[in-house]
Amino acid sequence: MIRTKALVKCFGEKIAVNNLNLQVNKGEIYGFLGPNGAGKTTTIKMLTGILYPTSGEIWILGKDLRRHELEIKREIGVVPDEPRMYKNLKGMEFVSFIMDIYDVNEEETRRRFEEICDVFNIDYLDEFIGEYSHGMAQKLMVATVMMRKPKVLFLDEPTVGLDVKSARMLKMLLKKYADEGSTIFMTTHILEVAEKMCDRIGIINEGELIAEGSLDELRTSGGKGEHLEDIFLSLTGANDEEMRELVENL
Ligand SMILES: Nc1ncnc2c1ncn2[C@@H]1O[C@H](COP(=O)(O)OP(=O)(O)OP(=O)(O)O)[C@@H](O)[C@H]1O
Ligand SMILES: [Mg+2]
Repeated sequence: MIRTKALVKCFGEKIAVNNLNLQVNKGEIYGFLGPNGAGKTTTIKMLTGILYPTSGEIWILGKDLRRHELEIKREIGVVPDEPRMYKNLKGMEFVSFIMDIYDVNEEETRRRFEEICDVFNIDYLDEFIGEYSHGMAQKLMVATVMMRKPKVLFLDEPTVGLDVKSARMLKMLLKKYADEGSTIFMTTHILEVAEKMCDRIGIINEGELIAEGSLDELRTSGGKGEHLEDIFLSLTGANDEEMRELVENL
């Protein structure tokens, strides 16, 4: 469903993503982890056709993204790290707008949207988006993406800003969609989310994929520790002793 070959993105001198080879299969939930600035958002932007790669290749749904960009964009869903929506629209106007541009089956999509609104307590559709809190906007963004039930879903830190119940509901919803055949690619800093949800995890550091596999595979492939947090810290070169010393010397 998602495949990249030697994917590279440079910003001037800076190599944000370096020689990335990914493969995510149908129905999988893939967690993409890494420290701040590691290249996660840049990768998602390339995979979803928002940023052009410096070099390398991307296939989504078996199709070359360069040659089938529009076709692919119709089939995928993207929840970006910042919900960017038209502030001068009311929630419901935005929903209608999305339904129009994606040319969806209106009855089915509307029914699904209403169910998702129930799940996330979205009862503010007649208010202007510009007046929403971060979490309210994030939930509407998630709902308008999920209502289309895309075949491949990209989510960049989707639980940030969601309240406890909404985050739990989102995790359940993503699991359900994956069980029904959607493929999910998500970034998160919340390791408990990755640990509980993801079939496979990739860890990126300074633009390079440094480890990949199921949690069990990561445990045995050089990551020290039982918990994902310990594995993650050891793989990304953070040392508990050093961190403690730094704090104590402050
Ligand atoms: N538009 C841009 N112009 C220049 N540099 C950029 C741009 N976007 C990202 N970068 C750089 O690319 C690197 C990767 O950034 P990216 O946003 O992909 O990180 P990230 O892994 O998503 O981090 P975070 O966990 O903080 O969200 C960083 O060094 C960043 O400064
Ligand atoms: Mg990011």
